[in-house]
Amino acid sequence: MILPIYLYGHPVIRKVAEDITKDYPELKKLVDDMFETMYKSDGIGIAAPQVGKSIRLFVIDASPVAEDYPEVEGFKRVFINAHITKRSEDEMETNEGCLSLPGINENVSRSTEIEIEYDDLDFVHHKEVIKGYGAIVVQHEYDHLDGKVFIDHIGMLRKRLIKNKLTNIMKGKVNTKYRTVAP
Ligand code: NI
Repeated sequence: MILPIYLYGHPVIRKVAEDITKDYPELKKLVDDMFETMYKSDGIGIAAPQVGKSIRLFVIDASPVAEDYPEVEGFKRVFINAHITKRSEDEMETNEGCLSLPGINENVSRSTEIEIEYDDLDFVHHKEVIKGYGAIVVQHEYDHLDGKVFIDHIGMLRKRLIKNKLTNIMKGKVNTKYRTVAP
């Protein structure tokens, strides 16, 4: 089932999400729906708050960009109760966008290597080092769990330049091929 995407400005996007347990109702269905929603909207990652659920869950399939970033070939994962435990000082800048902020693309600098602990869909615990573009995507999605979005990382000048676009998003005035929930 394709879920509507909650737009920037909706309170759920700014909320710090909660850990969940195995008993979380219909978790597998939610994960399936999130993948389906992400593929349908041409995203490479989506976090639960973007579909209106304030829980620490995000999914990624970065393989569509493997041509540009070979390290993400086959990088498809479900991250539950994720906690980043290390971030490299070394950073790289990439151009980011977000399904909750349609029409906005900005350069953001993030760590090139992270260490992350998380549970998979079977609640098997993992501790993993992720390098390169995979680390960038994970940090973008992980931000959503803490109520942050990628434009929180841009400068005042850039922010001023996109002010009108942000105002429109916050009014629900967007032109997307996917369904949205206005703030
Ligand atoms: Ni996003």
